[in-house]
Amino acid sequence: MAKIKNVYACQTCGTQHPKWTGQCLGCSEWNTLVEETLQAVTQQRYQGYSISTPRITAMSEVTLHEEARLSSSIKELDRVLGGGLIRGSAVLIGGDPGIGKSTLLLQTVCNLSQQMKVIYVTGEESLQQVTLRARRLGLPEKNLLLLADTQVERILKLAQDENPRMLVVDSIQTMHTDLFQSAPGSVGQVRESAAQLVSFAKQTDTTLFLVGHVTKEGTLAGPRVLEHMVDTVLYFEGEQDSRYRVIRAVKNRFGAVNELGIFAMTDKGLREVSNPSAIFLSRYEKAVSGSVIMATQEGSRPLLVEVQALVDQSHMANPRRVCVGLDSPRLAMLLAVLHKHVGITTYDQDVFVNVVGGVSITETGADLALLFAVLSSMRNSPFSPDTLVFGEVGLAGEIRPVQAGQERLREAQKHGFKKAIVPHGNAPKGTIGEMEIYPAHTLQEAVEHFKNYSSKIPA
Ligand code: TYD
Ligand code: MG
Repeated sequence: MAKIKNVYACQTCGTQHPKWTGQCLGCSEWNTLVEETLQAVTQQRYQGYSISTPRITAMSEVTLHEEARLSSSIKELDRVLGGGLIRGSAVLIGGDPGIGKSTLLLQTVCNLSQQMKVIYVTGEESLQQVTLRARRLGLPEKNLLLLADTQVERILKLAQDENPRMLVVDSIQTMHTDLFQSAPGSVGQVRESAAQLVSFAKQTDTTLFLVGHVTKEGTLAGPRVLEHMVDTVLYFEGEQDSRYRVIRAVKNRFGAVNELGIFAMTDKGLREVSNPSAIFLSRYEKAVSGSVIMATQEGSRPLLVEVQALVDQSHMANPRRVCVGLDSPRLAMLLAVLHKHVGITTYDQDVFVNVVGGVSITETGADLALLFAVLSSMRNSPFSPDTLVFGEVGLAGEIRPVQAGQERLREAQKHGFKKAIVPHGNAPKGTIGEMEIYPAHTLQEAVEHFKNYSSKIPA
């Protein structure tokens, strides 16, 4: 008789407590503990399929598969995966409900199933729904194997018999294992189901895709607890109402993190965006104030994006600092640097900052562009639209170099930019086409450049 033990697991972070408490000791969230039954499961755990006996191997004796990476048939997805799918790797795709996870995976598996055996396990939609969507999107469907099931042991048993090259589980929150008493979607179930699936993938050299939902309320166990178990974590970003969807790699054992894949949601499913810089730039009829174009380097690709700011007289005791797509505490810090080192005050102004197109920028290269946008809005003077800006601003008012300066400048040149204001450390040794480069050591110097490249709107 297996020993039965009860624990209280936090549905947000997965921390287990021996007793119920109102607040989780792990993540300090309130009312997130749910009772779960833990059984002594070590024997039972991988009963569903046989495991090869582990043995100690010299590294020189490890044989690698020839085709190390396999294209997923979607270029932008390959890019975030670090070059393609790897055998025996587990990939988690997270994102809000309805953002396009199932669509993307369905497109991928339909194309891939033409060359290899793929099983698509759906725990959310019926076989008819999946097929209907594939037909509507006009995807090749001949060889794709479908399975509508939510019980992990049964799925793995079937998968072992079929021996597919790739297994997709949509979604992990609907899966449950017999080893656990709690409801599907609870942290324990999600973790245990994922552990079994991942272990199956490793042992059979199957590529595994897991879909995970993120909900703000945390009613479903967030995929955060899964991040440690899988090799690659991809997140869908982007507003539901915007056409564009960005996939970001936040963890990748086989490639660069922060790599972005950019898609547009159309009536024919997700389409790759081949020239992403172009979509994030808006070309205005005439110059507007508060808009500055910067080059950001996310992963291995430079991307031109527009940073907008609106600075307006505040009527509040605490003026507002609102950021969309950028880091809010950083904005407050940069405004303080602007005051201290250039003498421009914003304490009586509301400052709103936005990155156009729903991308979020996680690097510090946006600092200078952000301050320029603020200045431009504050003085109501449009910044020259053919000038590119990037650079990190330090607390001492210095402009620090950022990585991949040359690539950023080259991308800007490709899109017809004529001038650039950049950190001194990023000034190129040679020339970048016809571009005029203005390097700056300090914020003060950069602001001098700013004055030369912005115009005053006639009253
Ligand atoms: P879906 O892949 O079902 O989302 P998830 O699996 O992440 O929950 O995407 C559903 C959304 O995508 C839905 O709001 C409608 C939209 N959509 C399109 O706009 N065009 C299409 O061709 C498809 C299939 C979906
Ligand atoms: Mg779905």
